Amino acid sequence: MAKKINLLISAGPTREWIDPVRYISNPSSGKMGYALAKEAQKRNYSVTLVTGPVHLSEPEGICIRKVETAEQMRKEMLENFESSDVTIMCAAVCDHRPEVQWSQKQKKEEFPSQIKLVPTIDILTELGNRKKASQILIGFAAETENFEQNAKIKLKQKNLDWIALNDVSRKQIGFNSEYNEITMFSSNQKKVKFEFSSKEILATQMLELITK
Ligand code: C5P
Repeated sequence: MAKKINLLISAGPTREWIDPVRYISNPSSGKMGYALAKEAQKRNYSVTLVTGPVHLSEPEGICIRKVETAEQMRKEMLENFESSDVTIMCAAVCDHRPEVQWSQKQKKEEFPSQIKLVPTIDILTELGNRKKASQILIGFAAETENFEQNAKIKLKQKNLDWIALNDVSRKQIGFNSEYNEITMFSSNQKKVKFEFSSKEILATQMLELITK
């Protein structure tokens, strides 16, 4: 019997806590990542989904690892990366977290007018540094300007095989929408555009391209 393809995918936002009742996050719904995970499962891949907090039903038959913070997501991704054949970082990881995280709720009157933020570790860059020749690594670039240029810089800097570019400045696509429009760039100079479609259709097209 042929060996199953192991697919590791992250989805959804992360939450970076300020105190027990407040956090920094973003509007990612997780829909694109979940659509990719479900499509991979349909193809009989062995799927591990590392997910931030989302309002989506859990796909059955998929190994699900629930996380909240970028650091928790990082740990899960690193733990599962070595055995993965195809890894997709679809999650909208917060780039920054509060330097201080209070264990008690800060009173409204005492809440600081400024909060110092520090960068989170770039998980995708770490995975790119560890990647073996046999592994395929894919990232997402959610951009609002200089689309192609920014995507290509990330493709190279993070040592990816493919990057999926989407324009998050357009309301009808991207974050929290049922639809998207994606352009894929590869490390060997391929450019493939997938027209405006549901995230399910895009997931099928993306996996077909990646595993060709
Ligand atoms: O550099 P930028 O954040 O725009 O890159 C987006 C890609 O990097 C996405 O695939 C996202 O999942 C990943 N990322 C990450 N760790 C971070 C920030 C982003 O893996 N701390």
